[in-house]
Formats: sequence, structure tokens, C-alpha cells
Amino acid sequence: MGRKVLITGGAGFVGSHVVDAHLAAGDDVTVLDDLSTGRRENIPAGVRFVHADVRSPEARELVARGGFVLLNHHAAQMDVRRSVADPLFDAGVNLVGLLNLLEGARAGGLRRVVFASSGGVVYGERGPFPLLETAAKLPVSPYGAAKLASEYYLATYAHLFGLETVALRYSNVYGPRQRGDGEAGVVAIFGRRLLKGEALTIFGDGEQTRDLVYVTDVAEANVAASRRPLAPLDGIDAHAFNVGTAVETSVNRLAELMGAAAGRAPQVAHAAARAGELPRSVLTVDKAARELGWRPRTALADGLRATLRFLAED
Ligand SMILES: NC(=O)c1ccc[n+]([C@@H]2O[C@H](COP(=O)([O-])OP(=O)(O)OC[C@H]3O[C@@H](n4cnc5c(N)ncnc54)[C@H](O)[C@@H]3O)[C@@H](O)[C@H]2O)c1
Repeated sequence: MGRKVLITGGAGFVGSHVVDAHLAAGDDVTVLDDLSTGRRENIPAGVRFVHADVRSPEARELVARGGFVLLNHHAAQMDVRRSVADPLFDAGVNLVGLLNLLEGARAGGLRRVVFASSGGVVYGERGPFPLLETAAKLPVSPYGAAKLASEYYLATYAHLFGLETVALRYSNVYGPRQRGDGEAGVVAIFGRRLLKGEALTIFGDGEQTRDLVYVTDVAEANVAASRRPLAPLDGIDAHAFNVGTAVETSVNRLAELMGAAAGRAPQVAHAAARAGELPRSVLTVDKAARELGWRPRTALADGLRATLRFLAED
């Protein structure tokens, strides 16, 4: 049997691909998820599934007594707007939920934690772009503040209890199984509208940029982060890795590329710019290449085609 791995949020978009990648690496995977946004059918048959909330005593006990060597933490409340409307709920799930699991890890002597952080929210708006891991941290939402605080808690647990902790700071992840109703999934939203022949809504002038990384590449970064030796702990950035492509794509260009991938010219509707939307977002990924041996492999056009194929069948 392979390494015993617990993946929270494994019924969700990114987490389910992380499950696939760990299974492919020969690991023995358990998923913990409350199915609030995740789907049971995203979890492959044969994978042990625990239906629980990350804030529950049951989740803490599972981490403490499950005999896992690795906790991969993807469960989260993902909605930035909801975090602004209800920061207590956001911190309850995203920060206190993590602490609950870390207390289990401390009790159970688990070795390593890989955490899904976000380059789109911990760095804020200032740059300089493309962003290095050491760039200033200026979260502009409670969601971002909780992600950054989570990284500090992880570093504190590493320092106090010798837990090995890694934070992966994703750019904008896209690909199959992404829901189209959230605000984060521009590719999923555009894809569904395009296939229905509906207009794509572009907020503002459409020149805002994103760093779009394909989900299976992100999943591979998780497996790499679960295995590689880590540098000595020296602040949160020592064990943080940007996971993106370093390629900047404007929303206008994305609409064009998706039209090309779908073989139809997209109809575009323009709407007023949304408050709080980042004008620019792009991450350097040299550190992950150097220290994790990881690089994004999927060209945007190929990833978009695969995503559209999935959406057409979903
Ligand atoms: N999608 C992106 O572009 C992106 C970018 C940066 C970071 N992330 C991070 O990656 C992780 C996964 O995001 P995603 O896009 O796959 O979202 P998602 O909503 O598809 O996945 C989140 C999963 O967590 C589960 N969950 C939510 N609250 C829970 C709780 N209280 N207890 C147990 N399970 C719970 C949901 O049911 C879902 O399966 C999150 O931590 C997110 O912050 C995602």
C-alpha cells in the first residue's frame, strides 16, 4: 500500500484533481468533504470518503487517529464576496477549520501539510509583476486575510511542533469540474455561456489580466510538494510556492481564445467594472521549478479545449 494521504475538499474542483494525482502516484487516499460546493461524483470509486465539516470534532479525530503521513488541505469557503459580506463565516471555515485540523495533526504526529493558498489574494494589488513569493502581502478581502493568516499558523506549527508545512499560492485555476456559478471561474462561466450561445459579460474594459493555470498541472504541483525536502523555515515565504504560469492573459484575449477553441465567434456584452477586481495578476513560478521540480505543462489553448469538451458533456 502507498502512503496514507488525507485530502480535504477532495470532492471539489481542484481537490478532486489532487485526489487523481495522488492515486496516480500510488498513494492511499481518503477524502474529507462536507459537499457544500463539492460533488460526490467527483470522488473516484474506491476512495474512502468521510462526509464531515473541517470544523467538527470528527474531522480533528480523523486527522489525529487516521494514521496519515500527509494532510492536503483544499476544503474552503471559496467566495471572496461572501467573505466581505460575512467575514466571521469565512474565518470560521477557512481559518478555525484549518486550526482544528492542525490540532489533530499535532496530536497524531502527522508529518506534512500541503495547503491551498492563493497568489490572487495574499499579495494584493501593488506588484511588482510578475509577483515573487517575497512580494508584499496586502490582502484586500477577509478571504485573503484568512489565507495569509493560515500560512502564518502553518509556519507557527512547523516551528513549535516540527510539522512540515507547504503553502501553494495558486493563480487562477481553470479546467474540468470547475463550477460555473462562482465568481472565481471565469473560464467555466465563459465556457458555459459560449456553449449555450449566450453573450460573455466583460466587466470594465476587459484589459484586466489573469494568470490561468490548468488544474491537472496544479494537481501535479501538490504531489511534488508532498515529497520534496523543504528548505529551513525562515518566515512564511520559505515554504510557499507560486503555482501559475507567469503568462498574463487579458479577459478580452481569453474571450477570443475561447471562441477559437469552441469554433464560434463569441458575443460580448460589456458591463461596468466590478469594485475590488484586481487590474492585474501574474505570478513568477521559478521557485517551484527550482525547488519542487514542477513546471506548468499545459498550453492555454489546449487547456481551454479540454475544458470546453468537459463542459459540453457535463
Ligand atoms: N479555483 C481557484 O482558482 C483557486 C485559486 C486559489 C486558491 N484556491 C483554493 O483551492 C481550494 C479549492 O478550491 P476550488 O476552486 O476547488 O473550490 P471548490 O468549492 O470546488 O472546493 C472546495 C471544497 O471544499 C468543500 N468544503 C467547503 N467547506 C467545507 C467545510 N466546512 N468542511 C468540509 N469541506 C468543505 C466543498 O464541498 C468543496 O468540495 C480552496 O482552498 C481555494 O481557496 C482555488
